Formats: sequence, structure tokens, C-alpha cells
Amino acid sequence: MRIAMVGSGYVGLVSGACFADFGHSVVCVDKDPAKIESLRAGRMPIYEPGLEALVAETVRQGRLTFRTDLTEAVAQADAVFIAVGTPSRRGDGFADLSYVYAAAREIAGALTGYTVVVTKSTVPVGTGDEVERIIREAAPDADVSVVSNPEFLREGAAIGDFKRPDRIVVGADEARAAEVMNEVYRPLYLNQAPILVTSRRTAELTKYAANAFLATKITFINEMADLCERVGADVQAVARGIGLDNRIGSKFLHAGPGYGGSCFPKDTLALVKTAQDAGSPVRLVETVVSVNDQRKRAMARKVIQACGGAVRGKTVAVLGLTFKPNTDDMREAPSLAIIAGLQDAGATVRAYDPEGMEQARTLLPDLAYAEDPYDCAEGADALVIVTEWNAFRALDFERLHGLMAAPVVVDLRNVYRPQDLEAKGFRYTGVGRPEGVTVR
Ligand code: UDX
Repeated sequence: MRIAMVGSGYVGLVSGACFADFGHSVVCVDKDPAKIESLRAGRMPIYEPGLEALVAETVRQGRLTFRTDLTEAVAQADAVFIAVGTPSRRGDGFADLSYVYAAAREIAGALTGYTVVVTKSTVPVGTGDEVERIIREAAPDADVSVVSNPEFLREGAAIGDFKRPDRIVVGADEARAAEVMNEVYRPLYLNQAPILVTSRRTAELTKYAANAFLATKITFINEMADLCERVGADVQAVARGIGLDNRIGSKFLHAGPGYGGSCFPKDTLALVKTAQDAGSPVRLVETVVSVNDQRKRAMARKVIQACGGAVRGKTVAVLGLTFKPNTDDMREAPSLAIIAGLQDAGATVRAYDPEGMEQARTLLPDLAYAEDPYDCAEGADALVIVTEWNAFRALDFERLHGLMAAPVVVDLRNVYRPQDLEAKGFRYTGVGRPEGVTVR
């Protein structure tokens, strides 16, 4: 199969490289000449484990190329994927579809022969209809089908998720388009990934429903964690106790500082808006959005409390800035609200992150950045773990005890066991594990 990938951001690049790895011939297109140039030179615009090597290998084998112009790639393609960004629109929270529509218009002008145009970007229900309308208006004679094929990749695990997906959802209203998509994903049959062929609108909604459900699961356990702190219970034991019930499942029940990232916050908000517009509000998801927003700021208050009720004039060391480990992505990261809350309360904040500091510097310019966790902790009145990077899982607490001004640890990811750190002379605060309740 010949594939054109329009948009070489996170989704486009990972999908393009994986399709090329499957044996397809892929052209990744992007309007940004600097990005294309650096990709050609083997430099990745994002940090994703395994991506650089996969790109290098598929380029070497001649199945992956990069272009700034889509004309030739689209003309030759059996399937053209739209994988451009859909940021939240400022002001109203709707997904901004201008990039998707602009791509559709441009693709229309370059189509030759039967082509399947696939929306991979996360788009509200009905966007496929609009993409089809735009293409038919711009190219009335084009032989084209418009399909929805949402992605479910997690940052940091995207390549594994792509190659061994739980399922593939294809929203195709025409049988011949579904056949092309079957060909595109045929290599995954080996991994026995089920391909669900649905209507286009169903596929579009499935993506939002999946993300909203996962966001709800996280928010549920976060509220349970707060309750655990009040009633003297251990949220990790509660999560295990409910998660072993197959109907619930144990994943996405890890309490923490609230979800962030490029998907959950944006997609839950977009679903809320779509549902309101359709006259069928999703009140549960509306509540999840607001509970999660408030939670991030509340984590700053948790740190202040751990510091004895005030942080004015104190130094707080923050470990982990990205919204989760194994990414350099700072979008909607809980660290942003937590650090702002601490600074507003008069604290000096020093931070360290293995991959996120470059992006963080533009978002948090008046922050001191450290060389490593120990440099970060030196002279600090509290150490706060915000992101559970592996590098923070086996810290040398004896050394930290000697470095810090006060032995206070706030572990917002429950990386450590309270009794272990207490034995090392620290005052420890986790999430949903009040003093004396953890038994393991
Ligand atoms: C998510 C979806 O998992 C993926 O299917 C979709 O395509 C894009 O959005 P991603 O945003 O990369 O992926 O990260 P994910 O691992 O899902 O984590 C999202 C957020 O939830 C992070 O901030 C993470 O820290 C938080 N989280 C996750 C929890 O707080 N607790 C959990 O148990 C799981």
C-alpha cells in the first residue's frame, strides 16, 4: 500500500513510521520546512522511546520519506491520513478544526484514482461529513471515500500501542473503503488485533467515549483518595480491591495529581461541548472536567500543608514536570498548576525533569532548573514528586536527608511506601494513604 500521512506531529510520525515498518510505502508530509529538514537528518521533533531508531531503519530501507508538499504523495496514495493538530479553541473549548479542513482542501486538489482519505486526528462527531463535503466541493470528480480511524496511542508507549493495539476502530460507510483499511492494517492480523468496522460517526464518538471513560476512572479514584485521607483508608488497597473485579479492571486506577496531557483534557472538553450542542449533555463528564481542574491546584495546597501551613520564604524542590514519564510533553501538566500555586503562596520553586525542562523553560520562565534530583533538593524545605519518572524511583534518601533544609517529602504519585521514608527520618505525605494505614 502507498500511504500519505498529512501532518508529521506526534500521531503522524509514529503512525507513519509504524506503517512503513509493516512494509507499506509511506510519505510523511508537513508544512514546516524546518521539521522536515530535521526529520531527514534523523532528528525527532518529539521525545518518544524507540521512534528515532524506527524512523532511521525505515528510511534506510527506503519505505519512509519526508516532504513539505503533499501533491505527489497524495496523487500516488491508496490511503491519505489526516494527522494534523486539533487544539482546543480559545474561549469556547471546541476542537479547532481549521487545520483538518485546510488539509482536506489541499488533499482534494491532488487526488488521482480511487483514494481513501482517513481522519486520524481526534475530531468531533460529524467532522468526517464536513471533510467529505469540502473534498467533494473542491474536487467534484474525485473518486474518494472519507473514513474515520481514531488512534489510541499513549505517549511514551506509542510504538508498542501501535503494533499491539487492543483494537482498531475503522468508521467507513462504504465497503470498498473498509477493504482498503483492512489492507492497511493486515500486518496486525498477526498480532490478532480485532478490527471493528463501524459507521463513521460511531468511530468518531468511540474515540471520545474511550478517553472520557478513562478520565472518569482516574477522577473517580482520585476522589476516593481524598476520601481515604479523611476516613483513614488506603487508596492503593481500595484500587486493587475493586480492580481485581474483571468488570472494573485494574488499569487507570492509580491516584495522583490529576490527569494532564494532550488528549484527556482537550477531548473531555470537546465531548462536553458536542453533547451540549446535541441537546444531550454528558453531566458526568462535565463534573470530571471540573473536578480534575480543581485537583491540580489543590495539590499545591497539599504541599503547603505538608510544609506546616505556609511556604512563604521556603524553597520547594519539584521532581518531574511533564504530565507523565517518558515524554517531554508539558501540555496540561499538573506541575504547571502546582508550581503556580506554590509561587503564589510565596515559595521559591526549583525543579528537575529528565526530558521536560526545555519545554518547561518557555512555560515556566521564572523557575530555577536543577541538574539532577540532588541538585534540586539541596537546601529545600520540601521535595515534591509530581511525575513518576523511573529516575525518581530509587532515590538515595540518606543523601537527600543530608542535603535538605527540612526532611519533608510529598509523593503525589505514591512511588514510595510511607513507612520506608518515615524510617529514614522523613515526614511523608502521599495521595490517599494517611499515616499508619499502608500494610504492605
Ligand atoms: C491518552 C490515552 O491513554 C490514549 O489512548 C489516547 O490516544 C491519548 O490519551 P496519553 O495522554 O499519552 O494517552 O497518556 P496516559 O498514559 O493515558 O495518561 C494520561 C494522564 O492520566 C497522565 O497525566 C497520567 O499521569 C494520568 N493517569 C493515568 C493517572 O493519573 N492515573 C492512572 O491510573 C493513569
